[in-house]
Amino acid sequence: MSTTVWEASADLVVVGSGVAGLTAALDGVRAGLRVVVVTKDAIDAGSTRWAQGGVAVVLGDIAGDSVGAHVADTMAAGGGLNDETAVAEIIGAGPGAVRRLRERGTLFDARGTRLERTREGGHSAFRVVHAGGDATGAEIERALVAAAVNSEITVLTGCVAVDALRDASGRVGGLSVLDDAGRPGLLRAPAVLLASGGYGQLYSSTTNPETSTGDGVALALRAGASASDLEFVQFHPTVLYTGPAVGRRPLVTEAVRGEGAILRDRTGHAFMTGVHPLADLAPRDVVAAAITRRMAETGADCMYLDATGLEGFAARFPTVSASCAEVGIDPRTDPIPVTPAAHYACGGVVAGTDGRTRVPGLYAAGEVARTGLHGANRLASNSLLEGLVVGERVVRAVLEDRALPRPASPQLISPAPAVAIADRGVVQRAMSTCAAIGRDATGLAAASDAVEQATSTAVPIDRAGVEDAALTLLAQGVLAAAGTRRESRGCHVRTDFPGRDDVWQRESLVITLDEAGLPVVGRDAMAGVA
Ligand code: SIN
Repeated sequence: MSTTVWEASADLVVVGSGVAGLTAALDGVRAGLRVVVVTKDAIDAGSTRWAQGGVAVVLGDIAGDSVGAHVADTMAAGGGLNDETAVAEIIGAGPGAVRRLRERGTLFDARGTRLERTREGGHSAFRVVHAGGDATGAEIERALVAAAVNSEITVLTGCVAVDALRDASGRVGGLSVLDDAGRPGLLRAPAVLLASGGYGQLYSSTTNPETSTGDGVALALRAGASASDLEFVQFHPTVLYTGPAVGRRPLVTEAVRGEGAILRDRTGHAFMTGVHPLADLAPRDVVAAAITRRMAETGADCMYLDATGLEGFAARFPTVSASCAEVGIDPRTDPIPVTPAAHYACGGVVAGTDGRTRVPGLYAAGEVARTGLHGANRLASNSLLEGLVVGERVVRAVLEDRALPRPASPQLISPAPAVAIADRGVVQRAMSTCAAIGRDATGLAAASDAVEQATSTAVPIDRAGVEDAALTLLAQGVLAAAGTRRESRGCHVRTDFPGRDDVWQRESLVITLDEAGLPVVGRDAMAGVA
């Protein structure tokens, strides 16, 4: 990168402006911190606003439901890889976090004073609160952005985070960035929070916006943090099928099935019956894999979601209705053509439930982080909850860490500026063909070869370069982990190892970088995390 042309300082730099980032930023300024939020695009352009279903939370007013039941559902969905302590902490903190979110102006759907609930795959109760019918993320983002613009937070839009800078002791002391004009800048800060979302753009077809390119995971790895559970890329079972299109696809929220819709093949057969005791409301990995299998068995490009029996569909699901209307489908009379698409990174930067990583001064919250909540397959609507809870907790950790004595070492060191960058189209095709739902050793090796052949070493000079470098590193990391995990578990389906291996695989794989910047697979995900 060329010489820094602008510089600023803060107490806390937050990368990303979704639910986790803005929650932390708002709590940070309330605690008296000078907070700068850095975001690649417009402030509301991240994943949060696309979330439809809602926030899974036990508020104590649903007979028969309990925090314990929500914990049990999360663990069951996660395929034995969740960290039970993290699950209990995050889910237990949910009611308070949702109350504070409402105090910040989020309006959930309610009947009188009582919040309405829906149900999604893997949940044993109706416990998902929602807003605007199926526009929960958009409403949360609206409220948080409104609070942020009325606060002391400085927001730098059109700025991509490049690298965390560390002092001689290894502690993070700032962040290098590139603005939209490609001008390098430096933000000095003793705390950097990554809340930059996931890496759905590794795949050709995804529910994620263009910003989801894994920048935060790549940055953290280059700064010496570890990542874990990268192989568990969750595919949402139902995005609207409109032909072999690529890019962000419209989600058809699982709540449609929660409220009674049935998946059928083109002959009308309800193929989820008998696949799992919860049938259409099985956990997401089970439904996505069943749809993929049925498509292969019948040679079809999509399956169909039959919502024709649902009362008041347009009012309850306005976002889905609008997407369907754009392609001439009326869910009141037409089955909705659906197919799976990449949706959520269950893994990410290894962090505690307070966002601390193993690198002092570097924190991670939301989809970019791997706290242990999701295990091998995230339970539906647990992600907004995690972003809220960890977003709040991280500020407490930052305040505690500020009080620790630190050596005065103003010289900041950047990782080597030249990184591996492959062509994005090659990466997406390789990952979609060989590392989506259903992987085997031959395909994973072919994908690795394709990525390697398309890779050269260069210094990113703009947002696209930073994103391509991140996608390249994430592809290498996902492929390395997926190749090492020779079993099927949760979202990771190995066609050559179709069963679970609880003898040695019931633990997370951890990725760090070697001296050459290449991912190395090891074990003990929480090593070095306070
Ligand atoms: C959905 O509404 O189906 C998606 C919710 C989620 O990913 O948790």
